[in-house]
Amino acid sequence: SELGVTLVGFSGGQCRPGTDAGPAVLTQAGLLTQLESDLGYTLHGDNSVRNFDDYQPTVTARDGMVSNSSPKFDDPDVRGMKNPRSVSAVTEQISELVYQQARTGRLALTLGGDHSIAIGTVSGVARAIRERFPGDPNNEIAVIWVDAHADINTPETSDSGNIHGMPVSFLTGLTTSTDKGVFDWIHDSHRITTKKLVYIGLRDVDAGEKKILRDNNIKAFSMHDIDRHGIGKVMDQALEYIGSDTPIHLSFDVDALDPMWAPSTGTPVRGGLTLREGDFICEAVAESGQCVAVDLVEVNPRLVEGGVGDTVRAGVSLVRCALGDTLL
Ligand code: ARG
Ligand code: MN
Ligand code: MN
Ligand code: MN
Repeated sequence: SELGVTLVGFSGGQCRPGTDAGPAVLTQAGLLTQLESDLGYTLHGDNSVRNFDDYQPTVTARDGMVSNSSPKFDDPDVRGMKNPRSVSAVTEQISELVYQQARTGRLALTLGGDHSIAIGTVSGVARAIRERFPGDPNNEIAVIWVDAHADINTPETSDSGNIHGMPVSFLTGLTTSTDKGVFDWIHDSHRITTKKLVYIGLRDVDAGEKKILRDNNIKAFSMHDIDRHGIGKVMDQALEYIGSDTPIHLSFDVDALDPMWAPSTGTPVRGGLTLREGDFICEAVAESGQCVAVDLVEVNPRLVEGGVGDTVRAGVSLVRCALGDTLL
């Protein structure tokens, strides 16, 4: 089957350099080759990794590569957000690239980059699926957000100002922007409903985010729920909540895994998923037959406490499982 790959070397949604090299280490580990030769996918988008250092996010539709590792232009904070114009411009272009992949029915795989890039990936897929199934009540995608964090701060509730902690609030329309060049490109066709949003793996949720989750009745399975019920039952419940007719976008932040398995990430939180629990989530989504898009984000090869090898191997395994690899 057809796979639309987008490699997004970008770190501007947070403050630690290195996340922009995530796609490079994952592809160097042979991930894309494995998807072709082991899993039989036909790849679209180029698998060569290039990095662009400057702002003026350089996009080549043919190779699907966007990068902005060190914004050097004047980009003062807006509503407390750091690098707002840079993140807005990069995610706008990712949105278009991923839309172009998903509109033809390809499964859209995006390797990040920090989690702010999901503003682009999810909005692009949401728009593509709406367009492919006009008038269908199931043309609104579900999002399974696997993460230690909820990433649903608004600019106003965020302590850090890092936009990788805010993508879900922009995607759901819980916050909007009319500032010129700052997420003013996001329209209704890009947005998702909080009713089809499911979190898995949460364990470090800010006070303001807890209120947002509660007030909007958003479905969330924390580590506590996984401890109590086991990952098998949690995935049954998550998929039952979404319903069997809804396309699913899986957005997987590698920091959902315990730092024992994935130490090379910018905001590690102990007490996370085991490697098998992470792989199981991906396997269950693949098995549902409803998966239309997969993101893997927040791999930062520059943070080597414990070695980047483990994190890369974990990332490769998660993506393989999400794309239908099975143990037997
Ligand atoms: N909640 C914190 C913040 O708003 C941490 C977010 C971490 N997000 C991530 N994608 N790793 O800054
Ligand atoms: Mn996270
Ligand atoms: Mn905080
Ligand atoms: Mn995240």
